[in-house]
Amino acid sequence: MIVCRSKAEIDRLRRVNQLVGRILADLRGRAAPGVTTQELDAYAEAQVRAAGAEPAFKGYHGYPATVCVSVNEQVVHGIPSARTLVDGDILSIDMGAKLDGFFGDCAVTVPIGRVSPEAETLLKVTQEALFMGIDAVKPGARVSDIGAAVQRHVEAHGFSVVREFVGHGIGSALHEEPQIANYGPGGRGPRLSEGMVLAIEPMVNFGDPAVKVLGDGWTAVTRDGSLSAHFEHTVVVTGDGREILTLLEQDADKARELLPHAHL
Ligand code: MF3
Ligand code: CO
Repeated sequence: MIVCRSKAEIDRLRRVNQLVGRILADLRGRAAPGVTTQELDAYAEAQVRAAGAEPAFKGYHGYPATVCVSVNEQVVHGIPSARTLVDGDILSIDMGAKLDGFFGDCAVTVPIGRVSPEAETLLKVTQEALFMGIDAVKPGARVSDIGAAVQRHVEAHGFSVVREFVGHGIGSALHEEPQIANYGPGGRGPRLSEGMVLAIEPMVNFGDPAVKVLGDGWTAVTRDGSLSAHFEHTVVVTGDGREILTLLEQDADKARELLPHAHL
């Protein structure tokens, strides 16, 4: 069953998702050559707790940190460490939090210093694909319309969609129904209706779509060693479309520029 949230619940979801979006924006500014990924994690945890919230990932199936940090060929679920970021890296930062009984979830991939033109294109196309998926969200649409829109955009640019990880419903749990694949034919699965809350999170590889999980039991990497990017927003279905709960006002113009037809 997919839960439809009340106005009061959506207000609480907006609060926690805006918090996650704001901390992620801070992290984006702090991610630079010479910084370690565990410094970013410590900052994130302090900010989450200072807001009276709790990290959502820490302790989830034993995950040890507040953020997931995935560098270059790492796809998702990289564990913060003493690794120092260097010029030319791309870094995915994924963060979830719980506030007042409700969850927020958001991810971005950021360039560290100057990155290759190929990396820049991968980030741009993955973020665009996320917005294409978000644009497919409206009352009466089907869940699989999201993945169909994501896949079409990604493959039109010669990149590939990761199959093993999916987006998800989110609310009073981090992961609720439905699962949201980032590929496959549209027109299938449950119909969306007002009040449903979805975390949409395409993972896109520069090369082959295959991934494997490293010996730490968490870090997913591309099998072919190619670069991978990950962007995520949490959205709520509204009467005539969707609201992006994790989108900050300061980023809304950029998002509209990226997709003028998305009605953000
Ligand atoms: N954004 C990812 C998700 O929603 C991150 C989960 S990391 C975990 O599934 F540690 F919580 F598993
Ligand atoms: Co998620």
